[in-house]
Amino acid sequence: MTFTAPIQLPGLALDTQWYKRAVFYEVMVRSFYDSNADGSGDFAGLISKLDYLQWLGIDALWIPPFYNSPLRDGGYDVADFSSVLPEFGTLDEFKELVTKAHERNMRIVIDYPLNHTSDQHEWFQQSRQDPEGPYGDFYVWSDTDEKYPNIRIIFVDTEDSNWAFDPVRRQYYFHRFFSHQPDLNFENPAVREATLNVVRHWMDLGVDGIRLDAIPYLFESEEGNGEGEPKTHEFLKEIRAMVDRDYPGRVLIAEANQWPSEVVEFFGTEDEPECHMAFDFPVMPRIFYALRSQNASELVRVLSETHEVPSAAAWGVFLRNHDELTLEMVSEEYRQAMYGWYAYDPRMRSNVGIRRRLAPLLDNSRAELELAHALLFSLEGSPFLYYGDEIGMGDNIWLPDRDASRTPMQWTPDRNAGFSSADPGKLYLPVVQSLAYNYTSINVEAQLAQSRSLLNWVRNVIHVRKGHPTFGLGTLRVLETNHESVLAFVREYPGSSTQFGDSAETVLCVFSFAHSPVSARIDLTGFEGATAFDLFGGAEFPAVGADGTLSLTLGTQGFYWLHLGDAPRA
Ligand code: NOJ
Repeated sequence: MTFTAPIQLPGLALDTQWYKRAVFYEVMVRSFYDSNADGSGDFAGLISKLDYLQWLGIDALWIPPFYNSPLRDGGYDVADFSSVLPEFGTLDEFKELVTKAHERNMRIVIDYPLNHTSDQHEWFQQSRQDPEGPYGDFYVWSDTDEKYPNIRIIFVDTEDSNWAFDPVRRQYYFHRFFSHQPDLNFENPAVREATLNVVRHWMDLGVDGIRLDAIPYLFESEEGNGEGEPKTHEFLKEIRAMVDRDYPGRVLIAEANQWPSEVVEFFGTEDEPECHMAFDFPVMPRIFYALRSQNASELVRVLSETHEVPSAAAWGVFLRNHDELTLEMVSEEYRQAMYGWYAYDPRMRSNVGIRRRLAPLLDNSRAELELAHALLFSLEGSPFLYYGDEIGMGDNIWLPDRDASRTPMQWTPDRNAGFSSADPGKLYLPVVQSLAYNYTSINVEAQLAQSRSLLNWVRNVIHVRKGHPTFGLGTLRVLETNHESVLAFVREYPGSSTQFGDSAETVLCVFSFAHSPVSARIDLTGFEGATAFDLFGGAEFPAVGADGTLSLTLGTQGFYWLHLGDAPRA
């Protein structure tokens, strides 16, 4: 497979707000491509697939943890923050990945689970053996398991307490996630110093950003619930100040699975910023809810909420990632409805969520996949794709936990889906062989050969998005419509006089979640007389009426991206 490079935006490398325009792609090293036939993906394999990612239009890779680890939590259980897991390659190969990505104008964002370590980490081993030694106070130890009663358990499927007894030190240690992942003690200045050093280590190697895993949970307190405690925000400000001072242009991304008013806190303020980006956890499940309920009102409500955020802040929008589709940010009533629609087999559930991939969730419906992606690429914020979703890869719910959707990338219809030439029994996880999603039909090679494939469709939408800076830089304003199944918003960008020469633009985005065709009237007060042009084919639509409304007919689960104003440049 050979790929020709798409047109790059000029001067991306000089843009300090590059992350606002970027299309991100989450890729687990283990899952993408195995270059040495040992059954596990590696850096050399990922490097060999950069051409594919560039062809797709990806600007930045988010790479989940690849550090030394016993891999009991997909690598989020780190045994050493500064080295690379040997089965993934060497530090030199990681550096080569950074260089080769940069040559393609592509950024590398790594993932840093700073809240906790593996119990195999040297710090923990020393801490349990020598309470008076230099690491004695690195973890949260207690003589009882009764401290912090207000702190909830996150992994409800596997844990029944946030405390575990250590027979060596004969004390309890606190753990927010699995019991083999003790929480670090951020009250200890040496832990904070060690954390800043890890950030420096990777930034010195040239990474463009860091996803801060589980960021709300750094500090605990007796009174609080241990999520976004004031001290956590203070420390984040410190990390950000160091990055701005020593590594300008690099970004910090918050993983905070919280309500909007709490997530925005992780952006900090204009004067005292924290993270540049934060994942939009509240919007994501509402997209799935709208698809089945045919009702857009919850999406309308969440998107209409306004929050003051610093000018450099940006959302990370996503449909799926390496975790379960979390349902923590919806009401109990909505959660039960979503379990009924999307996780009718109890095997599909995990913790407070659903452990399935995008295409199986949407029943492999092309219309739904297109609608969901059209939203992903036009909402306010930068889109994050999950590897394999661009070809509609399936999952394997007979695998444990979140491994269900971490199976090898499907490149070809050949052995091991072209992921590896190892003995199939040696793969880190089996390739998907289910009837509907068998790798012999769902793979990159087959989809490249079909001009109407999902892969080609996704690539096209990405390129249309990139041709309109409004999507990355503009504001979003939800519009009133007369149909409960329809979501409409305008993205507006006043233009800028930067080196990019971006001109002002207004784009009207309309989505129908109805399972049959509908007609809707949209309130476009202020745009009276403006003409609408389709961003994909350029076709002219009726102008907005003198009464400030526009009536549109939408096919089943259809959508429009319409330029409002004069005819767009050819
Ligand atoms: C969040 C990560 O996304 C998830 O995969 C992991 O299990 C937890 N943090 C604990 O590290």
